[in-house]
Amino acid sequence: MQVFETIGAFRAARTAYPTLGFVPTMGFLHEGHLGLVRRAKAENGAVAVSIFVNPTQFGPNEDYASYPRDPERDLTLLKEAGADLVFLPTPDVLYPPGSVTRIEVGGVADELEGQSRPGHFSGVATVVTKLFNIVQPQRAYFGQKDAQQCAVVRRFVADLDIPVEIVVCDIAREADGLARSSRNVRLTTENRQKAPALFQALQKAARLFRNGERDVDILENAMRAVLTEAGLPDIDYATVVNADTFRREQPCSDNALALLAVQAGEVRLIDNMPL
Ligand code: PAF
Repeated sequence: MQVFETIGAFRAARTAYPTLGFVPTMGFLHEGHLGLVRRAKAENGAVAVSIFVNPTQFGPNEDYASYPRDPERDLTLLKEAGADLVFLPTPDVLYPPGSVTRIEVGGVADELEGQSRPGHFSGVATVVTKLFNIVQPQRAYFGQKDAQQCAVVRRFVADLDIPVEIVVCDIAREADGLARSSRNVRLTTENRQKAPALFQALQKAARLFRNGERDVDILENAMRAVLTEAGLPDIDYATVVNADTFRREQPCSDNALALLAVQAGEVRLIDNMPL
């Protein structure tokens, strides 16, 4: 496994690989990331991983400074998972003085996370486009946990004619159902015990949907009740949207996706489930 901090050195090494899968990450890797790395390796023969906590996708009051970081541990895990190339730039490598260009995605990026976290998807789209230009993978792998991010990436890849196939992989969960996330380590013991309520709320909506419920108010209230009863009343959104547009429809279509964003102390948890 080779590790590079500069664009030039990475590009030089990349020429040795005719086909490359790519997993962009912000580090502090967990089993969800490692599953993506193993799948990318199996499907492409070789895999590159980036580790970069991207400042442009964090709002001024968000957790950029406290986002967990442990590059040494990440590199050990990536070696075990079979990564071939690792790109580990510093912020000034990707955003040198004078860099002002940003990508703005409309449509799907304007909903939900787009409203709660203004500028977030512009930061994601900008950094992922830059990483695609540097890594030049055939395929890139993302986790369904960030369902809206996956839809945004698919959108700008299509709009900008970027020749990368986007592969979305299932959510990796803990034994109690909590979706794996680098931020979980920042949960207090008490909130970690409450956090599986997100999965339980989604399961509740899925059960109701399976039984024929299509009234979005009823589905949303059912999810809210589970979260509140579990001691997680600070709900940013608990909703059901069309999985293609991320727009709320009443009644919901068969192509429905339930999504949650909940503040648990210092940590904002998100999760989702196709209904
Ligand atoms: O999902 C993430 O970890 C980040 O949003 C990504 C795709 C690596 C861009 O910084």
